[in-house]
Amino acid sequence: MATLIANGTVIGPTGATAMDVLIDGERIVALLAPGHGPTGGDVQVIDATGRYVLPGGVDVHVHLDLPMGPTFSADSFESGTRAAAWGGTTTVVDFANQRVGERVQDGLAARHAEAAGNCAVDYGFHQVIGDVNDESLKAMVELIEHEGITSFKLFMAYPGVYYSDDGQILRAMQVAGRHGAMVMMHAENGPAIDVLIGQALGRGDTAPYVHSLTRPVELEEEATHRSIMLAKVARCPLYVVHMSAGEAVEAVMGARDRGANVFGETCPQYLYLSLEEHLMKPGFDGAAYVCSTPLRARADGHQDALWRYLRTDDLSVVSTDHCPFCMKDQKELGRGDFSKIPNGIGSIEHRMDLLYQGVVRGEISLARWVELCCTAPARLFGLYPRKGILQPGSDADIVVYDPSRRTRLGVGMHHMNLDHSAYEGIEIDGGIELVMSRGTIVVRDGRYHGRKGHGRYLERALSDVLI
Ligand code: URP
Ligand code: ZN
Ligand code: ZN
Repeated sequence: MATLIANGTVIGPTGATAMDVLIDGERIVALLAPGHGPTGGDVQVIDATGRYVLPGGVDVHVHLDLPMGPTFSADSFESGTRAAAWGGTTTVVDFANQRVGERVQDGLAARHAEAAGNCAVDYGFHQVIGDVNDESLKAMVELIEHEGITSFKLFMAYPGVYYSDDGQILRAMQVAGRHGAMVMMHAENGPAIDVLIGQALGRGDTAPYVHSLTRPVELEEEATHRSIMLAKVARCPLYVVHMSAGEAVEAVMGARDRGANVFGETCPQYLYLSLEEHLMKPGFDGAAYVCSTPLRARADGHQDALWRYLRTDDLSVVSTDHCPFCMKDQKELGRGDFSKIPNGIGSIEHRMDLLYQGVVRGEISLARWVELCCTAPARLFGLYPRKGILQPGSDADIVVYDPSRRTRLGVGMHHMNLDHSAYEGIEIDGGIELVMSRGTIVVRDGRYHGRKGHGRYLERALSDVLI
C-alpha cells in the first residue's frame, strides 16, 4: 500500500516547501504540490498539517556496545538503535575497532556479528585503525573496495590503546587519500595529556572535573592543526570528530578557507553542557559528564562559538558520539581516580530535538538544522542520496516533527539504557510525532512500532562532497 504524507512543510538543506510526500514500499516515489497526490482507498494518508516533514536523522558517530577498559558502553545495538528511532534518527554509523596487535578484519567481523539482526534502524561502520602497519594499510583498501567502509578513525590520544604517532597517521592518510576515503581524527595530544594526568593524580587531584583540566584547549587545538597539516601532506580528506574548543574549530576554519577538504563535527554535549555547570557538580556527580574531548568552560565562550560555527558552516556536522555509561558500576569505576571514569555521554535519542532548539532561538535556520543532522553527514559518508534527503528514489526515512509539542528531557522519559540523563530537566520546544524507516512506521504519537532486525547494514560509497 502506498502512503501519502499530506499537507506538511518539507524541510531540506535548501529550505522549506509545502509539499506532499508519496511513498511506495521502501522508497519515496514523488514530492507533489499539496492536494495533488493520490487519495484512493489503497493509499494510507498521514495528515501533517502544521508539521515539518524532514529526512530521518543520520548520526555518523555512535558507540554501541563499545569495550572501554573493564566495561562496555551501556547501549547494545538493539537498545541504542531503538533509542535512535525514538529520537528521529534512522541511520547510525558505528565503529569497528582494531587495537594494537589485532587484525582489522577480525574487529570488523566481530562488529558485524554483534549488529546483525539486532538493529531497529539502518547502520554502517567506520573502521578504527589502532595499529597502523603494512597489513592494516592493505586491509583499508580491501574495506574500501569490498566492504562498503570508506572512512577510518585514527587517534592522536590514548597511547597504548588506539594511539597512532605522526608517521603512522601520515601512512594511513596516504592510503585513504589515494583511494578517496575519509580519515576521521580524534585530535587531542595524547602523550602530553598523559603527563598532565600523571601530575594531577600525583598531587591528589582525583575529582571528575580534573579530567577537563588535563585535556586543555591548547592540546585539542595543537592536535587539530597537526592533523590538518598531515592531511595536507598526504592529500587526504579529513573529518575532525567531537570538537569542543572554539580555537580548534578556528584551525579547521582556516584550512577550509584555504580550500582544503577539512570538516569539523561537534556534538550536543558541547553545545549544552559545560565544565562549570556540569563537570564540576559536587562530589562524584560530575562523572556523568566525563567525555573526550572534554566539556569546556562556558565562561571561555566555547558554546557560543560552536553555535556560531554551525551557522557559518565552519562546523559541518552534528553527531552524538553516543557512548553511554551508567553511574552505577560503570562511571563509578573512576571514584577516587578521574582517569578511570569511562569516557562518554549518551544522547543518541536527543540530537534532533536539541539541535531544533537552535532553530527556536534563531541560532540556525530550519534548513541548516536538517543539513547538519541529516544531509551533510549522509553526503560526507557516502550515504547520499539514499539517506539524508527527501527526494524521489531516496529511502523513505522520514520524520514528522510537531513544532507545537513540548517535552522535558530526563531519565524518566528516555529510551537509552542509561540510569541518568546528561540533559535532565531541559525543556524542548517541538517534538517527534512520527518516524518512518524505509517506509515502515517505527514511532508514532509516543508509541514504538519498530522491531530489532529491521535495520540493515549499509555499504557506503565514497564521500560525494570532495573535490
Ligand atoms: O568520550 C568519548 N568521546 N568516548 C567515545 C570514544 C571516542 O573517543 O570517541
Ligand atoms: Zn574520539
Ligand atoms: Zn566517539
